[in-house]
Amino acid sequence: MALVTIHDEGRTLTDSKAITEYLAGFGIDYEKWIPAHPVADDASAEQILEAYSGDIDKLKARGGYVTADVIDVSPQTPGLDEMLAKFNREHWHDEDEVRFIISGHGLFHIHAQSGPVIGIEVEAGDLIRVPRGTRHWFNLCADRRIRAIRLFQDTAGWTPQYTDSGVDEKFMPMCFGVSHLPYNVPISS
Ligand SMILES: [Fe+2]
Repeated sequence: MALVTIHDEGRTLTDSKAITEYLAGFGIDYEKWIPAHPVADDASAEQILEAYSGDIDKLKARGGYVTADVIDVSPQTPGLDEMLAKFNREHWHDEDEVRFIISGHGLFHIHAQSGPVIGIEVEAGDLIRVPRGTRHWFNLCADRRIRAIRLFQDTAGWTPQYTDSGVDEKFMPMCFGVSHLPYNVPISS
């Protein structure tokens, strides 16, 4: 289950339907996907893509995505910190950023054009689509682990364009998880 935090408004969303509706207001798609059949923890990329092929094909048709792959990041990934440093500063892409989380956790921050900065914690079963041109940044959570399906319109367009706004420095790259919500944050669902 995802966790959405709107820091400026001091509120947190935990309900999938509320999250989908709220993020849609900023052009961001959020969905829950269920595999066609159970997928083992050590499933290969091919097995994962096959298990979710129905949802992937629908999304491809909707968003003009031509390829899908599986990215695997863990504390053992060589050059992990260098890789993360490319994405933890505010940037945008010429192409949508589409991620479906298979395992692990991640924290997106979205800096909407006319709206607040939105923190979106994602975990297994969460699909997020950040439209091209949307300012955002990404951090791993404490487990430093994420396995995710990515969809691309054209991989050549998926280069970070940095804003150097410094906005990202105002937000803690910290994941709370639904079971660790701070007591003083009102929960709406
Ligand atoms: Fe990005």
